[in-house]
Amino acid sequence: MNTLEYIEKNKDRFLNELFELLKEPSISADPEYSQNVFKTAEIVRDNLKKIGIEKAQLFETKGHPIVYGEKIINNALPTVLIYGHYDVQPPDPLELWDSDPFKPEIRDGKIYARGACDDKGQFFMHVKAAEIMIATNQLPCNIKFMIEGEEEVGSNNLEEFVKENKKLLSADTIVISDTGIIANDVPSITTGLRGLSYVEVEVTGPNRDLHSGLYGGAVANPINILCKMIASLHDEKKQITIPGFYNDVEVISNQERSLMGQAPFDLESYKKELDLNDTYGEEGFTTMERNSIRPTLDVNGIWGGYTGEGAKTVIASKAYAKISMRLVPHQNSETITKLFEKHFTEIAPKGVTVKVSPHHGGEAYVSPIDGPGYLAASKAMTDTFGKTPVPVRSGGSIPIVALFEKELGVKSILMGFGLDSDAIHSPNEHYGVFNFFKGIETIPLFFKYFAEIK
Ligand code: BES
Ligand code: MN
Ligand code: MN
Repeated sequence: MNTLEYIEKNKDRFLNELFELLKEPSISADPEYSQNVFKTAEIVRDNLKKIGIEKAQLFETKGHPIVYGEKIINNALPTVLIYGHYDVQPPDPLELWDSDPFKPEIRDGKIYARGACDDKGQFFMHVKAAEIMIATNQLPCNIKFMIEGEEEVGSNNLEEFVKENKKLLSADTIVISDTGIIANDVPSITTGLRGLSYVEVEVTGPNRDLHSGLYGGAVANPINILCKMIASLHDEKKQITIPGFYNDVEVISNQERSLMGQAPFDLESYKKELDLNDTYGEEGFTTMERNSIRPTLDVNGIWGGYTGEGAKTVIASKAYAKISMRLVPHQNSETITKLFEKHFTEIAPKGVTVKVSPHHGGEAYVSPIDGPGYLAASKAMTDTFGKTPVPVRSGGSIPIVALFEKELGVKSILMGFGLDSDAIHSPNEHYGVFNFFKGIETIPLFFKYFAEIK
């Protein structure tokens, strides 16, 4: 039986098994769900066991467990390590979902559920592809799985696990399906990810909330000040004003920029999809460049004072914001966090004090387009999509990928099958049934070509 026949025969079962995974609210950020996260890890482990992945087991960490499994068929053959994550983002705001985020359902050829695309639906393609290769006797490489439960909260414990288990994780390449393609008829391979510095800031004014009439005008209002400070972090050209922020930014040649510019992109439909009357961003760069090869600084959340019903006349004692900076190759997340901290403290006016607390960070990643991993992925996708995939740098981050390179010395190939419109991290996240099966069909070909090229 070939791959397509196997898929056809087992289609419904594959979807049902994915649904069992999607039903578990494995929300890594929320301690209330830690039992569900654990149960999800067990489901993943049992799925691996069932298809013949030996040593499928959980590795406990200080946080959520890592699922590991392997099938070593011959030490002389190359080894492929599959990485993915079974944790998901919180589903809120719940009222904006058209169906329960943890009751998966198919509408219009799309699987709706939190994690459908990011990343349960995507890593599960590898589990099913491995099942097919094992069951039809066509596994041409050794295969290892490492599926973690803390990607959405920064992979803090995976870092230690990787450092301590280099031998266990040794591989010739790492394959990750946790990114996307341009469109279902425009296949692409992700060749870059941005890094990340994430900080939380706290601005304190008076030692308690004050009557805004009795004190207003005479003391610093931390919310006013915070807004002013944040506004000053960009200039008229929409560049970031933190001194030294751009020092290490990778300079991309005009030649490479024009090559990148050939990836299909339609500004009008981009705007239409988001109901925008215009785009907005750094002068001198295209929309595609702004969200991939340029660094950013964005407030992700801001709060303080009174936000309940009606009006309350109050000057809050404190104001807060969460700020993310997406980084590009050669920038260092620790350096950037320090530059931010120094600058943000320095621009605080008298009358307030400022505290900056760093959250997680991670480095950017680029993969070559002439390595065996890329070539194998390109050939596999060419076979299944009928078109050669285009290389594109993504604006998202998977911080552990740069760490894999540093600690294991192994490059990752980012062969994802999602679409930007899949609404990952948003209400109504979904994943195309087409994309799910296209991935399952493509992965065995990747293994075949990788074994040949390697
Ligand atoms: N799978 C995403 C990253 C992604 C999506 C990259 C699409 C490229 C295309 C991943 O799960 C994610 O959400 N990463 C976080 C970073 C993490 C440290 C919370 C991100 O990019 O915000
Ligand atoms: Mn993901
Ligand atoms: Mn994510």
